[in-house]
Amino acid sequence: MKKKILIISGGISKERIISLDTGKQVARELIRNNYRTKIAEPDSKLLHIIKLFKPNIIFNALHGQFGEDGYIQSILETTGIPYTHSGVIPSAIAMDKYLSKKIFIKNKILTPKYIKYSFDRSKHELKKLIDKKLKFPVVIKPLNEGSSVNVFICSKLNITKNLKLLKDYKQIIIEEFIGGQEIQAAIIGSKKLGAIELKPKRKFYDYEAKYNSKSNTQHIMPADINKRDYQKVMDLALKAHKIIGCQGVTRSDFKFYKGKFYLLELNTQPGMTSLSLVPEIAAYNGINFIKLIELILKDARTKK
Ligand SMILES: Nc1ncnc2c1ncn2[C@@H]1O[C@H](COP(=O)(O)OP(=O)(O)O)[C@@H](O)[C@H]1O
Ligand SMILES: [Mg+2]
Repeated sequence: MKKKILIISGGISKERIISLDTGKQVARELIRNNYRTKIAEPDSKLLHIIKLFKPNIIFNALHGQFGEDGYIQSILETTGIPYTHSGVIPSAIAMDKYLSKKIFIKNKILTPKYIKYSFDRSKHELKKLIDKKLKFPVVIKPLNEGSSVNVFICSKLNITKNLKLLKDYKQIIIEEFIGGQEIQAAIIGSKKLGAIELKPKRKFYDYEAKYNSKSNTQHIMPADINKRDYQKVMDLALKAHKIIGCQGVTRSDFKFYKGKFYLLELNTQPGMTSLSLVPEIAAYNGINFIKLIELILKDARTKK
Protein backbone atom coordinates (compact mmCIF):
# COMPACT_ATOMS: atom_id res chain seq x y z
CA MET A 1 0.00 0.00 0.00
CA LYS A 2 1.39 3.39 -0.98
CA LYS A 3 1.92 6.05 1.65
CA LYS A 4 -0.61 8.65 2.77
CA ILE A 5 0.55 12.16 1.96
CA LEU A 6 -1.01 15.35 3.30
CA ILE A 7 -0.15 18.41 1.23
CA ILE A 8 -0.35 21.79 2.91
CA SER A 9 -0.85 24.65 0.48
CA GLY A 10 -2.44 28.09 0.25
CA GLY A 11 -1.99 30.09 3.41
CA ILE A 12 -2.17 33.84 3.82
CA SER A 13 1.13 34.99 2.34
CA LYS A 14 1.36 37.09 -0.82
CA GLU A 15 2.42 33.88 -2.58
CA ARG A 16 -0.85 32.08 -1.77
CA ILE A 17 -1.83 31.59 -5.41
CA ILE A 18 1.57 30.15 -6.32
CA SER A 19 1.39 27.81 -3.32
CA LEU A 20 -2.10 26.58 -4.31
CA ASP A 21 -0.72 25.87 -7.77
CA THR A 22 2.32 24.03 -6.32
CA GLY A 23 -0.03 22.00 -4.08
CA LYS A 24 -2.33 21.11 -6.96
CA GLN A 25 0.48 19.99 -9.25
CA VAL A 26 2.07 17.85 -6.53
CA ALA A 27 -1.31 16.32 -5.57
CA ARG A 28 -2.16 15.47 -9.18
CA GLU A 29 1.14 13.70 -9.63
CA LEU A 30 0.87 11.79 -6.34
CA ILE A 31 -2.69 10.67 -7.09
CA ARG A 32 -1.63 9.57 -10.57
CA ASN A 33 0.95 7.40 -8.87
CA ASN A 34 -1.51 5.87 -6.43
CA TYR A 35 -0.52 7.72 -3.27
CA ARG A 36 -3.38 8.43 -0.90
CA THR A 37 -3.36 12.20 -1.01
CA LYS A 38 -5.17 15.05 0.67
CA ILE A 39 -4.73 18.82 0.43
CA ALA A 40 -5.20 21.07 3.46
CA GLU A 41 -4.90 24.77 4.27
CA PRO A 42 -2.64 25.86 7.13
CA ASP A 43 -5.58 27.09 9.21
CA SER A 44 -7.17 26.28 12.57
CA LYS A 45 -8.48 22.94 11.22
CA LEU A 46 -5.06 21.68 10.18
CA LEU A 47 -4.14 19.73 13.31
CA HIS A 48 -7.60 18.14 13.37
CA ILE A 49 -7.24 17.06 9.73
CA ILE A 50 -3.80 15.60 10.50
CA LYS A 51 -5.31 13.63 13.39
CA LEU A 52 -8.10 12.19 11.20
CA PHE A 53 -6.10 11.53 8.03
CA LYS A 54 -3.00 10.22 9.82
CA PRO A 55 -0.56 10.93 6.98
CA ASN A 56 2.77 9.11 6.78
CA ILE A 57 4.40 12.27 5.47
CA ILE A 58 3.34 15.92 5.27
CA PHE A 59 4.33 17.70 2.06
CA ASN A 60 4.84 21.40 2.74
CA ALA A 61 3.82 23.21 -0.45
CA LEU A 62 3.58 26.63 1.17
CA HIS A 63 5.54 29.68 0.10
CA GLY A 64 6.30 32.92 1.88
CA GLN A 65 5.31 34.10 5.32
CA PHE A 66 4.16 31.45 7.82
CA GLY A 67 4.95 28.65 5.34
CA GLU A 68 8.57 29.21 4.53
CA ASP A 69 9.83 31.06 7.61
CA GLY A 70 9.81 28.38 10.31
CA TYR A 71 6.31 29.14 11.60
CA ILE A 72 4.40 26.19 10.09
CA GLN A 73 7.50 24.03 10.58
CA SER A 74 7.37 24.64 14.34
CA ILE A 75 3.71 23.59 14.40
CA LEU A 76 4.47 20.48 12.33
CA GLU A 77 7.24 19.56 14.79
CA THR A 78 4.57 19.03 17.44
CA THR A 79 2.82 16.35 15.37
CA GLY A 80 5.84 14.06 15.23
CA ILE A 81 5.00 13.32 11.59
CA PRO A 82 7.83 13.71 9.05
CA TYR A 83 7.42 16.83 6.92
CA THR A 84 9.22 17.85 3.77
CA HIS A 85 11.82 20.57 3.15
CA SER A 86 13.83 22.45 5.76
CA GLY A 87 13.25 22.56 9.51
CA VAL A 88 12.40 25.48 11.79
CA ILE A 89 15.73 27.26 12.10
CA PRO A 90 17.06 26.91 8.52
CA SER A 91 13.66 28.10 7.24
CA ALA A 92 13.71 31.14 9.54
CA ILE A 93 17.27 32.04 8.54
CA ALA A 94 16.79 31.62 4.79
CA MET A 95 13.56 33.65 4.80
CA ASP A 96 15.33 36.57 6.45
CA LYS A 97 17.42 38.13 3.68
CA TYR A 98 19.41 40.20 6.18
CA LEU A 99 20.34 37.29 8.40
CA SER A 100 21.14 34.99 5.51
CA LYS A 101 23.34 37.61 3.82
CA LYS A 102 25.30 37.95 7.05
CA ILE A 103 25.81 34.18 7.10
CA PHE A 104 26.84 34.12 3.42
CA ILE A 105 29.46 36.83 4.05
CA LYS A 106 30.78 35.08 7.14
CA ASN A 107 31.24 31.95 5.04
CA LYS A 108 32.92 33.81 2.18
CA ILE A 109 30.00 33.61 -0.22
CA LEU A 110 29.72 36.83 -2.19
CA THR A 111 26.41 38.73 -1.94
CA PRO A 112 25.57 42.27 -3.15
CA LYS A 113 26.54 45.09 -0.77
CA TYR A 114 23.53 46.06 1.30
CA ILE A 115 22.01 47.98 4.13
CA LYS A 116 19.02 47.18 6.28
CA TYR A 117 16.52 49.99 6.64
CA SER A 118 13.50 50.52 8.84
CA PHE A 119 10.97 53.24 8.17
CA ASP A 120 11.24 54.77 11.62
CA ARG A 121 14.52 56.33 10.48
CA SER A 122 14.49 59.64 8.66
CA LYS A 123 14.89 60.04 4.90
CA HIS A 124 17.90 62.22 5.52
CA GLU A 125 19.54 59.45 7.52
CA LEU A 126 18.78 56.97 4.75
CA LYS A 127 20.30 59.17 2.05
CA LYS A 128 23.46 59.55 4.11
CA LEU A 129 23.62 55.80 4.68
CA ILE A 130 23.18 54.96 0.99
CA ASP A 131 25.79 57.53 -0.07
CA LYS A 132 28.24 56.11 2.42
CA LYS A 133 27.71 52.41 1.70
CA LEU A 134 26.21 51.86 -1.76
CA LYS A 135 26.33 52.86 -5.40
CA PHE A 136 23.24 53.43 -7.55
CA PRO A 137 21.33 51.74 -9.07
CA VAL A 138 20.11 49.85 -6.02
CA VAL A 139 17.47 47.20 -5.47
CA ILE A 140 14.97 47.62 -2.66
CA LYS A 141 13.15 44.59 -1.33
CA PRO A 142 11.30 43.35 1.74
CA LEU A 143 13.38 41.44 4.25
CA ASN A 144 11.14 38.40 4.16
CA GLU A 145 9.07 38.12 1.01
CA GLY A 146 9.42 35.98 -2.12
CA SER A 147 8.40 35.70 -5.78
CA SER A 148 9.87 39.18 -6.45
CA VAL A 149 6.89 40.69 -4.61
CA ASN A 150 7.74 44.36 -3.92
CA VAL A 151 11.25 44.16 -5.39
CA PHE A 152 12.19 47.37 -7.24
CA ILE A 153 15.29 48.55 -9.06
CA CYS A 154 15.86 52.20 -8.19
CA SER A 155 17.89 55.11 -9.40
CA LYS A 156 18.68 58.15 -7.29
CA LEU A 157 15.70 59.83 -8.95
CA ASN A 158 12.95 57.33 -8.18
CA ILE A 159 14.08 55.72 -4.92
CA THR A 160 11.90 57.97 -2.71
CA LYS A 161 8.80 57.14 -4.75
CA ASN A 162 9.57 53.41 -4.75
CA LEU A 163 10.34 53.32 -1.03
CA LYS A 164 6.79 54.51 -0.36
CA LEU A 165 5.52 51.27 -1.92
CA LEU A 166 7.34 49.30 0.76
CA LYS A 167 6.37 51.42 3.75
CA ASP A 168 4.14 48.71 5.24
CA TYR A 169 7.14 46.47 5.81
CA LYS A 170 8.90 46.89 9.13
CA GLN A 171 12.30 46.44 7.58
CA ILE A 172 13.68 46.29 4.08
CA ILE A 173 16.96 45.55 2.34
CA ILE A 174 18.59 48.05 0.03
CA GLU A 175 21.36 46.50 -2.00
CA GLU A 176 23.53 47.31 -4.98
CA PHE A 177 22.14 46.26 -8.33
CA ILE A 178 24.29 43.59 -9.98
CA GLY A 179 24.12 43.25 -13.75
CA GLY A 180 25.01 40.18 -15.78
CA GLN A 181 23.36 36.78 -15.94
CA GLU A 182 20.60 35.47 -13.68
CA ILE A 183 21.51 31.92 -12.58
CA GLN A 184 19.55 29.74 -10.18
CA ALA A 185 20.98 26.52 -8.78
CA ALA A 186 19.07 23.67 -7.15
CA ILE A 187 20.21 21.20 -4.50
CA ILE A 188 18.32 18.14 -3.36
CA GLY A 189 19.41 16.32 -0.22
CA SER A 190 23.08 17.00 -0.48
CA LYS A 191 23.22 16.45 -4.24
CA LYS A 192 23.80 19.10 -6.87
CA LEU A 193 20.80 19.05 -9.18
CA GLY A 194 21.81 21.71 -11.70
CA ALA A 195 21.76 25.38 -12.62
CA ILE A 196 19.40 27.20 -14.97
CA GLU A 197 19.70 30.64 -16.52
CA LEU A 198 16.78 33.05 -16.86
CA LYS A 199 16.65 35.70 -19.51
CA PRO A 200 13.61 37.82 -18.78
CA LYS A 201 12.27 40.04 -21.55
CA ARG A 202 11.17 42.41 -18.81
CA LYS A 203 13.47 44.77 -16.90
CA PHE A 204 14.32 42.01 -14.42
CA TYR A 205 13.02 38.64 -13.18
CA ASP A 206 9.95 40.15 -11.52
CA TYR A 207 6.63 38.53 -10.58
CA GLU A 208 5.27 38.71 -14.13
CA ALA A 209 8.47 37.29 -15.62
CA LYS A 210 8.26 34.42 -13.13
CA TYR A 211 4.64 33.40 -13.37
CA ASN A 212 3.09 34.75 -16.55
CA SER A 213 4.05 32.45 -19.40
CA LYS A 214 3.22 35.26 -21.83
CA SER A 215 6.06 37.34 -20.43
CA ASN A 216 8.40 35.11 -22.45
CA THR A 217 11.22 34.69 -19.98
CA GLN A 218 13.76 32.47 -21.69
CA HIS A 219 14.85 29.45 -19.64
CA ILE A 220 18.30 28.18 -20.55
CA MET A 221 19.08 24.75 -19.14
CA PRO A 222 21.91 24.19 -18.44
CA ALA A 223 22.93 27.79 -17.74
CA ASP A 224 25.06 29.33 -20.47
CA ILE A 225 28.33 29.49 -18.53
CA ASN A 226 31.52 27.50 -18.89
CA LYS A 227 32.06 24.17 -17.13
CA ARG A 228 34.28 25.61 -14.41
CA ASP A 229 31.81 28.35 -13.56
CA TYR A 230 28.97 25.81 -13.63
CA GLN A 231 30.83 23.73 -11.07
CA LYS A 232 31.56 26.85 -9.06
CA VAL A 233 27.92 27.91 -8.83
CA MET A 234 26.86 24.38 -7.89
CA ASP A 235 29.53 24.29 -5.16
CA LEU A 236 28.30 27.63 -3.85
CA ALA A 237 24.67 26.48 -3.84
CA LEU A 238 25.61 23.32 -1.96
CA LYS A 239 27.71 25.30 0.50
CA ALA A 240 24.85 27.72 1.18
CA HIS A 241 22.40 24.79 1.56
CA LYS A 242 24.73 23.15 4.08
CA ILE A 243 25.74 26.17 6.16
CA ILE A 244 22.11 27.13 6.66
CA GLY A 245 21.34 23.51 7.50
CA CYS A 246 18.67 22.92 4.86
CA GLN A 247 16.95 19.67 3.94
CA GLY A 248 15.10 18.40 0.91
CA VAL A 249 15.24 20.77 -2.00
CA THR A 250 16.57 24.34 -2.09
CA ARG A 251 17.13 26.82 -4.90
CA SER A 252 19.74 29.54 -4.64
CA ASP A 253 19.36 32.69 -6.75
CA PHE A 254 22.57 34.19 -8.11
CA LYS A 255 23.70 36.99 -10.38
CA PHE A 256 26.84 36.23 -12.42
CA TYR A 257 28.73 39.41 -13.23
CA LYS A 258 32.30 39.84 -14.45
CA GLY A 259 33.27 36.31 -13.51
CA LYS A 260 31.81 36.45 -10.00
CA PHE A 261 28.71 34.85 -8.53
CA TYR A 262 26.66 36.96 -6.13
CA LEU A 263 24.15 35.05 -4.04
CA LEU A 264 20.91 37.02 -3.71
CA GLU A 265 19.04 34.51 -1.57
CA LEU A 266 18.38 30.85 -0.86
CA ASN A 267 14.81 29.51 -1.15
CA THR A 268 13.82 26.65 1.13
CA GLN A 269 10.38 26.17 -0.49
CA PRO A 270 10.99 26.59 -4.23
CA GLY A 271 7.94 26.50 -6.46
CA MET A 272 6.70 23.31 -8.10
CA THR A 273 4.32 24.83 -10.66
CA SER A 274 4.49 24.10 -14.38
CA LEU A 275 6.65 27.21 -14.88
CA SER A 276 8.85 26.47 -11.88
CA LEU A 277 12.56 25.99 -12.20
CA VAL A 278 13.37 23.08 -9.90
CA PRO A 279 11.17 20.60 -11.85
CA GLU A 280 12.76 21.87 -15.08
CA ILE A 281 16.28 21.45 -13.70
CA ALA A 282 15.37 17.97 -12.42
CA ALA A 283 13.83 16.94 -15.75
CA TYR A 284 17.03 17.87 -17.56
CA ASN A 285 18.81 15.39 -15.30
CA GLY A 286 16.33 12.62 -16.08
CA ILE A 287 14.38 13.11 -12.85
CA ASN A 288 10.72 13.40 -13.77
CA PHE A 289 8.15 15.15 -11.59
CA ILE A 290 7.11 12.11 -9.54
CA LYS A 291 10.73 11.09 -9.00
CA LEU A 292 11.47 14.62 -7.80
CA ILE A 293 8.51 14.54 -5.40
CA GLU A 294 9.62 11.12 -4.15
CA LEU A 295 13.15 12.41 -3.53
CA ILE A 296 11.67 15.28 -1.51
CA LEU A 297 9.45 12.83 0.42
CA LYS A 298 12.45 10.59 1.07
CA ASP A 299 14.32 13.44 2.69
CA ALA A 300 11.37 14.33 4.93
CA ARG A 301 11.73 13.62 8.56
CA THR A 302 10.94 15.05 11.93
CA LYS A 303 13.48 17.75 12.54
CA LYS A 304 15.10 17.40 15.93
N1 LIG B 1 21.01 43.06 -6.08
C1 LIG B 1 20.35 42.71 -7.19
N2 LIG B 1 20.88 42.97 -8.40
C2 LIG B 1 20.23 42.64 -9.54
N3 LIG B 1 19.01 42.08 -9.57
C3 LIG B 1 18.42 41.80 -8.39
C4 LIG B 1 19.06 42.09 -7.14
N4 LIG B 1 18.22 41.72 -6.14
C5 LIG B 1 17.13 41.21 -6.74
N5 LIG B 1 17.23 41.25 -8.08
C6 LIG B 1 16.25 40.78 -9.06
O1 LIG B 1 15.00 40.56 -8.39
C7 LIG B 1 14.66 39.16 -8.39
C8 LIG B 1 14.05 38.80 -7.04
O2 LIG B 1 14.97 39.07 -6.00
P1 LIG B 1 15.32 38.02 -4.87
O3 LIG B 1 16.37 38.63 -4.00
O4 LIG B 1 15.63 36.70 -5.47
O5 LIG B 1 13.97 37.98 -4.01
P2 LIG B 1 12.65 37.04 -4.08
O6 LIG B 1 12.64 36.39 -2.75
O7 LIG B 1 11.52 37.97 -4.26
O8 LIG B 1 12.83 36.07 -5.21
C9 LIG B 1 15.96 38.44 -8.69
O9 LIG B 1 15.72 37.19 -9.27
C10 LIG B 1 16.65 39.42 -9.64
O10 LIG B 1 16.14 39.34 -10.95
MG1 LIG C 1 14.50 34.92 -5.69
